[in-house]
Amino acid sequence: MVMIRMEFKNILEERFATKNFDGKKIDEDKIEQIMEMIRLSPSALNLQPWKIKIIADENLKEKLSPASMGQPQIKSCSHLLVFCANSDLKGNADRLISDLKASGIPEENIQFLESVLNNFLSMFHGEAGIHEAQHNTFIPAITAIYAAKSLGIDSCPMQGFDPAAYSEILELPDNLVPSIIVPLGYAADKPMPKVRFPKEEIFF
Ligand SMILES: Cc1cc2nc3c(=O)[nH]c(=O)nc-3n(C[C@H](O)[C@H](O)[C@H](O)COP(=O)(O)O)c2cc1C
Repeated sequence: MVMIRMEFKNILEERFATKNFDGKKIDEDKIEQIMEMIRLSPSALNLQPWKIKIIADENLKEKLSPASMGQPQIKSCSHLLVFCANSDLKGNADRLISDLKASGIPEENIQFLESVLNNFLSMFHGEAGIHEAQHNTFIPAITAIYAAKSLGIDSCPMQGFDPAAYSEILELPDNLVPSIIVPLGYAADKPMPKVRFPKEEIFF
């Protein structure tokens, strides 16, 4: 079982968008724990429409740096997570139904889910399917930043990169769209004060 070492509120308060990492490598067992926590992320109809490329290779990070506006996080991080939306919603739906059948869930529940899924798939195809997958793909990225912090690892959610260039460098298939990246490592910088709008302005 994964040991969470920090209170969730402390994780929220202490995590910050790291601008530069110190180059120290994250132990593989911690990466495994982060991967497992990411895997538990929720998604619409449990379609999990994402694939996540994990990059520790220095040459590859070097190649991705210019496609990331030269932001220092890319070369200085230990591991770079590239969260790709997977537009193959139908493929994931088929896979999910077969996994549910194998899990022993009653047939009538599966049939109900299958009809909901078919309805869902009829609404989200083409561009709409990609957008739906992209919305969902932000969820595991957010899991990643908090999961990492729970293990004392710093991170930065980033959209300042060129998705087309990433696709080319990483030789991604057409159905995978890089949507958000999260470098992980140990911060070489200090957090800025947390500036947030007051709750009276946020909640109504
Ligand atoms: C969707 C998204 C995209 C972001 N893109 C970048 C980025 O490209 N580069 C960067 O340094 N920070 C990026 N950030 C970090 C934000 O600037 C940062 O979260 C925000 O200023 C609040 O600061 P804090 O996270 O340290 O509390 C991004 C954050 C989000 C959620």
